[in-house]
Amino acid sequence: MSLRPVEAVLLGAGSRGYSTFGGYAKAYPHNLKIIAVAEPDPARRERFAREHALPSAQVFTSWEELLDRPRLAEVLINATMDRVHYESTLRALDLGYHVLLEKPMATDPAACICLARKVEQTGLILQLCHSLRYNPFFIRLKELMDAPETGQVTSIIHNENVAFWHYAHSFVRGNWSNESRSAPGLLTKSCHDVDILYWLTGRVPEWVSSFGRLTHFRPDRAGAEIPARCTDGCPVEATCPYSAIRIYLGDHVDWPVNTIANDLSYEGRWQALREGPYGRCVFRCDNDVVDHQFTTFDYADGLIIGFHMHGHSHDNVRTLRVAKTGATIRGFLEKRELEVNHYLDGRQEIIHTGGPDDRHGGGDTLMLHEFIRLVRQGRPDEVNASARESCLSHLLVFAAEQARKENRIVHVPTFIHEIEQSVPADGIHE
Ligand SMILES: NC(=O)c1ccc[n+]([C@@H]2O[C@H](COP(=O)([O-])OP(=O)(O)OC[C@H]3O[C@@H](n4cnc5c(N)ncnc54)[C@H](O)[C@@H]3O)[C@@H](O)[C@H]2O)c1
Repeated sequence: MSLRPVEAVLLGAGSRGYSTFGGYAKAYPHNLKIIAVAEPDPARRERFAREHALPSAQVFTSWEELLDRPRLAEVLINATMDRVHYESTLRALDLGYHVLLEKPMATDPAACICLARKVEQTGLILQLCHSLRYNPFFIRLKELMDAPETGQVTSIIHNENVAFWHYAHSFVRGNWSNESRSAPGLLTKSCHDVDILYWLTGRVPEWVSSFGRLTHFRPDRAGAEIPARCTDGCPVEATCPYSAIRIYLGDHVDWPVNTIANDLSYEGRWQALREGPYGRCVFRCDNDVVDHQFTTFDYADGLIIGFHMHGHSHDNVRTLRVAKTGATIRGFLEKRELEVNHYLDGRQEIIHTGGPDDRHGGGDTLMLHEFIRLVRQGRPDEVNASARESCLSHLLVFAAEQARKENRIVHVPTFIHEIEQSVPADGIHE
């Protein structure tokens, strides 16, 4: 029996909206059909409407305009920027949409709690785009961690190594560089990692500590002779790894180059560097988020987890080391490879976890397949990255940020309890 595609409206036809969700609808037209879009940028809006054959009545200039109408489809995909997520999702749930929501869920803890409560009241499906939960690599790793024959997990060290050019693009020059416009780096870059650690362990830690600094991308790192933009005749441009000219004006025009301008010709990109945020010297931006951070979670039963995120890597790789009492597990996400070293007989198992080929190791595609299944079968109770689960993992991030900013350790259950108590039953009052 062939099923009709699930119909959805899309908020935000930017990088994720266009490529990930628009791309999925094109690759799997029997699963998803996007029937309306809201996007303020005219070029992005028109490109999306054209490629998805949307009639003009289904094309909107903002999420507010689209959500002023009665519900247009069963599903809403929210790919707007971080600070828009809360209000737009709340409105969507009021209108009865099932929601696929980009991370972060919201940029403050009370808003996360309100969304989780709202989802529970409505009985609708809300799935966060925590794609790692749907990635075969982490599903297999969880099985290995839970396997009783290799003993108990005593500690985990997880590294999120972000390539220098990626960090400079997103967290120095771009969308997630300034807390007041987005949120702390642990939320915007690493809520996936904190969430997957929470999912792998299945429990909340007792204590958290966190140290993070902005050490490199600061005005005091550049001499007075360095101009505001790489295109202003910078004397060290040719020897600077962060040169916007090197990063954005080469032959490569895929991500992240395709986010700097709608016109990706050489001239279009040059103009974007002359006028937009991505041509700025990395030492002359208005960034204030950390460029490296260590967070430690301490559990009541003895487990300790160390999580390291930094933007000074030659490549983008996540690596893990899980110490069990009977084996050491090492994981290399980008290679989709897990290695189990058994103490008893010295045996080494190498496991290739596979999965579809997308920017998130297959996680995005599988996450979308699962969301479509849940909507078709009407199963809010089966959502893995559910609003409640994601709210909890976001609260771990907020607790860690409190520890970092106040230079102390934070008792996680108390932090969660106090936040829950502080949010009125009828929601946040602005
Ligand atoms: N799950 C993941 O792995 C992952 C990866 C990257 C980004 N993200 C998240 O996805 C979201 C989008 O990121 P992006 O890289 O696509 O950013 P983006 O800036 O490319 O896209 C956001 C789009 O929202 C549009 N927008 C702004 N105001 C709007 C309004 N009022 N109504 C409708 N649209 C509006 C913008 O014009 C833009 O096109 C962010 O929250 C980000 O954190 C998630």
